Order: sequence, then C-alpha cells, then structure tokens
Amino acid sequence: PLVSTGELVSAAAAGGQGVAAFNVITLEHAEAIAAGAERAGRPAILQISENAVKFHGGRLTAIAAATAAVARASDAPLSLHLDHVESPGLLRAADGEGFSSVMFDASKLSYGANVAATSEAVVWGHARGIWIEAELGKVGGKDGEPPLGAHAPGVRTDPAEAVAYVRDTGVDALAVAVGSSHAMTDRTAALDHELIGALRRAVPVPLVLHGSSGVPDAEIRQAVAAGMVKINVGTALNTAFTGAARAFLAADTKTVDPRKYLVPAREAMTGTVAAFLKVISG
Ligand code: G3H
Ligand code: ZN
Repeated sequence: PLVSTGELVSAAAAGGQGVAAFNVITLEHAEAIAAGAERAGRPAILQISENAVKFHGGRLTAIAAATAAVARASDAPLSLHLDHVESPGLLRAADGEGFSSVMFDASKLSYGANVAATSEAVVWGHARGIWIEAELGKVGGKDGEPPLGAHAPGVRTDPAEAVAYVRDTGVDALAVAVGSSHAMTDRTAALDHELIGALRRAVPVPLVLHGSSGVPDAEIRQAVAAGMVKINVGTALNTAFTGAARAFLAADTKTVDPRKYLVPAREAMTGTVAAFLKVISG
C-alpha cells in the first residue's frame, strides 16, 4: 500500500532502525523496489529526483502516477518522495501527485539563502501535510561533480549550525554531509562516525544519509546504530540494472525485444534492494 514517508521514518526512528529510500528512474526501478521490499518483508521509500523528472521531459505526472500505482498494488508499505528539488515550481507540482514528502535542496546556496528558501518550502509543505527534508553541508557528487569533494572536512555538516538550521527552518528531517558522496560505483566511502554521533545528540529531527551506494554494509550498519534514519540509495540500483543488461546484450547480439534484457536487469535491482533492506533492518 501507499503510506506516508513521515510514518515510515518515525516508526524506524522509534525502533532504532533505518528506512531505505531508493531512486526511481524507470518503471522497472519502481517495480524492483516494490518486489525487493516484499522479498525482505520491509517498508521502503520510492523517491523520484528532480533529475529523473527532467529525464521524463519535465512532466511529473506520468512517472509519479506510475510509481504511486506500483506502491498501491504492493504488499509492502511504500511511500512516495520527491528528491533533490531545487526548483520551487517543481516543489509546488508535487501537491496532489501522491507525494507525502519532498527533499528541498538549497545546499548550493549560502547559509542565509538556504534558510530563507527552505523555510518557505516548509511553510508550503506543512500547509498541505507534506513532510520536508533539507540538506545542510554538501554531500557532493551530484551532476558529475568530483565525488571526492564530500570527503573534505570543510563541506561536512557542523552540529551547532545544524541545530540552528533545524530551529530556523522547521524541517522534518536533515540530510547531513558525513563522508558519503553521490554516484559512487564502488563502496569505499568512510563515514565520520564521531560526527554522526555528535549530530544525532544535537539535532532533534531524523538524519538522512545521501550517497549510500558508496558506503560499505558495515559502515551503513554502524551509521544506523548511531541514529542515522533515512538511507538514500540510487546508483547501486543502476549498477545492478546496467550490469545485467550489458551482460545479456554482450552474449546475445540478435535480440530486439527489450523485455529479454529488462527482466534480468529488473531482477538484479530487486536483489540489490532486498540486500540493502536486510543491512539496515538491524
Ligand atoms: O538522494 C539520493 C541518494 O543520495 C542516492 O545517492 O546514487 O550515490 O546512492 P547514490
Ligand atoms: Zn542525494
């Protein structure tokens, strides 16, 4: 069934567990996330990023409606989240499309401009029952930026600044920069567990780990145990999907029916989803 992100995150936080949010690019991603959640017997968050909306021609309705339909038809509790929204226009388009949450990403702006823009997004969301996540610090690695940027201590989230940011914006959850980086295809990120602990003690809302594809299982487990709640995974699904499709097509140069390679590609993503859900269930 389609449930709300707020209830999944609150339940995970109360139970000392994590809840995973997986990025949807194609319908096969949504189907694989639902199947992986059913296989693991766990809830999950289906998230569509602003970049994925752009890929679908900038029109939110088709991919959002299809993803919501997959969630409604599933036996697993699944919620719909709009991810890394930089455009205020797209934020407003989320209303009425099945989204119970949005990550409003003003992390490229200065601190003051980030607070002002995010506060407005929170007022807008809360008037409609939409849960708002925001980012302070910079996870990095988006849009082809060099992933190593996020490993520099200067871009990490400062606990005292995070407390003021949550107080001044009213956000429901905070994405923090603690050593992970977006779009990693190997799992070599080293998290700053001391910083995660300090943020957890200081910040009153659930913390979100972005760029979790590059984080080893043991580090994810340790981060969840220290209080990281929403665990965002995107690239790992694409690595599985493309790897399986590439292997099929390399071995078979005659097939033209896309279902022939989309079946193993989707199944590879399902396995990746189920494996992540087992890691974060504690
Ligand atoms: O918001 C989405 C996530 O941060 C995904 O990051 O593709 O590096 O796993 P990833
Ligand atoms: Zn992210």
